[in-house]
Amino acid sequence: MSKVFERTLITSALPYANGPVHIGHLAGVYVPADIYARYLRLKGEEVLFIGGSDEHGVPIALKAKAEGVTPQEVVDRYHYIIKKSFEDFGITFDIYSRTSSEIHHQTASDFFRKLYDKGEFIEKTSEQYYDEEVKQFLADRYITGTCPHCGNEHAYGDQCEACGTSLSPLELINPKSAISGSVPVLKATKHWYLPLDKHEAWLKQWILEDHKEWKSNVYGQCKSWLDMGLQPRAVSRDLDWGVPVPVEGAEGKVLYVWFDAPVGYISNTIELCENQPDTFGDWQKWWKDETTKLVHFIGKDNIVFHCIVFPAMLKADGTYILPENVPANEFLNLEGDKISTSRNWAVWLHEYLEDFPGKQDVLRYVLTANAPETKDNDFTWKDFQARNNNELVAVLGNFINRAMVLTHKYFDGKIPARGALTGYDNEILAEIENQKSKIENFLEEFRFREALKEAMNLARIGNKYLAETEPWKVYKTDEERTATILNIALQITANLAIAFEPFLPLSSEKIKQLINNTQLKWADLGNINLLKAGHALNQPELLFEKIEDEVIEKQVQKLNDAKKANELKNHQAAPVKQTIDFEDFTKLDIRVGKVLECVKVPKADKLLQFKIDDGLGGRTILSGIAQHYQPEELVGKNICFIANFAPRKIKGIESQGMILSAENADGGLAIIQPQRETEPGSAVG
Ligand code: 2FM
Ligand code: ZN
Repeated sequence: MSKVFERTLITSALPYANGPVHIGHLAGVYVPADIYARYLRLKGEEVLFIGGSDEHGVPIALKAKAEGVTPQEVVDRYHYIIKKSFEDFGITFDIYSRTSSEIHHQTASDFFRKLYDKGEFIEKTSEQYYDEEVKQFLADRYITGTCPHCGNEHAYGDQCEACGTSLSPLELINPKSAISGSVPVLKATKHWYLPLDKHEAWLKQWILEDHKEWKSNVYGQCKSWLDMGLQPRAVSRDLDWGVPVPVEGAEGKVLYVWFDAPVGYISNTIELCENQPDTFGDWQKWWKDETTKLVHFIGKDNIVFHCIVFPAMLKADGTYILPENVPANEFLNLEGDKISTSRNWAVWLHEYLEDFPGKQDVLRYVLTANAPETKDNDFTWKDFQARNNNELVAVLGNFINRAMVLTHKYFDGKIPARGALTGYDNEILAEIENQKSKIENFLEEFRFREALKEAMNLARIGNKYLAETEPWKVYKTDEERTATILNIALQITANLAIAFEPFLPLSSEKIKQLINNTQLKWADLGNINLLKAGHALNQPELLFEKIEDEVIEKQVQKLNDAKKANELKNHQAAPVKQTIDFEDFTKLDIRVGKVLECVKVPKADKLLQFKIDDGLGGRTILSGIAQHYQPEELVGKNICFIANFAPRKIKGIESQGMILSAENADGGLAIIQPQRETEPGSAVG
């Protein structure tokens, strides 16, 4: 028998406060969570939607060290930027708090202590790297060294970012402390572990048997973890940033960030309920009452923590409910490449709003229509433009505008009365009524892309109806029929205001303003008598505007510039080649030459053919730099070339030397020139 729920507690992953939020965050977690929260509220259900910043963990501590500031300063900087971005995009959290708050420290500390007192942890001592210079144990991320798999000399103790392999610090060759640069030593340290192996049996039953309805990507990942067998997991770390382990003799140790962060959902609920008890009631009803439906919205990298580790923590406590569903999304890529904060490969939400003020709904629409619900998806600016122009403008905006403009033109902006209905009218009205259950079913199953598609289909039905009935023609001969058609078109418009409200809240609000009715409820969806005859509309206004090619090209350019800047920043000069002695060097006969002629080599994209004045009567040299220079710009210039390079035939032409050039990080080539005017034939050395 399926459970009967009385309220829904929605949590959304707490983003790390070590950078602003980008479109990947929005698409993966916050827009779907917000759609769901809005939908349930519109239905009149009791809902709590929890958000907040995750402010602990090694990357934040590391960033603070690198900048010479405190971790608190780092998280203060980003917490408010993130919070503002979410507000700007209409994410309707009931609370957006933070894990550096006092109430969170207390809650997380108490949570640990209860499990500790109940004997739910095991204590283990193991050898870990220790930096003797700064007198600190090193978290995996604080240790760098050479990757044993690919030879990358800048691999981290938990992962090599060059080849993607997960590592343990002990595998690194030549380990170094990222804090002091010194060679770390192994030293014994004690930690507390959650024995997940002891929880395996009930987790298997609960997920694999009782929650077969979970999304296949979530269920599949859980199954593979459970099939591999669970191991005890350390829930403490040697670190000075986080929630101190509340046990005697645990000085210098804090709770592992993945232990305290999900408890953040609980502490934020407590904070909210304590501040507004009349609105939200006692926090325990949200976390400890079986009639509460708990739903975690997260990205796929968080699945194990929300489906296995956190439930095991809740079960170990024994007084909490477990999540009913964890509708995790896959990842959103950007223009074919993984979104990355450190590589600045992202569309940042605050920057989007600077470039597209007021267009929050366009991004919400595109990210939902293209949400990575079942597999990784790609965001491209071209797709963004196409969905705006071909769907929001051409379908939704166009339909509503036509209905509004025609009503103003023929009926003075007042809802005309419906006359006799044709068979076709009745078909359309039935289709409208049908959309409600389609949209609802998809929303209940967390299939937001499909739900949005069905909302858009409502506008398509409207466009089709106007195209078939042609009220602008009918009006000339039959005013009553025109009235009926426009009445139906306006009822569809009212339905659109409701259907789009969870997805495009700002636009839904505007539609309500246009039709001068702000009282519409979700229960009204499918109702075709929402606007009464004689009711006055407001003046028509366009809901969406076309986005031109130049605007999109600018965004693509911005991304490419960011990529270039990043490549340059990360460019590492190639290792120095084997040492040579002077004699080896003197074997090279490098000289200055003057370019007399320069032309493209036919049928070779990369080659330029030079005629060089070498002070010896001239020579021909071919060089692969056609993609970096126009031939004309080189004529008359001094260059350097290797004069005793063995002649080679390329494309049937003999090349008598080699022109010297330098290669940039982005692959660009620059010809080497003497600093002053120099005689052709002068030796370089
Ligand atoms: O992956 C992340 O960004 C984590 N900060 C998510 C934490 S979710 C929850 F446990 F707080
Ligand atoms: Zn590697």
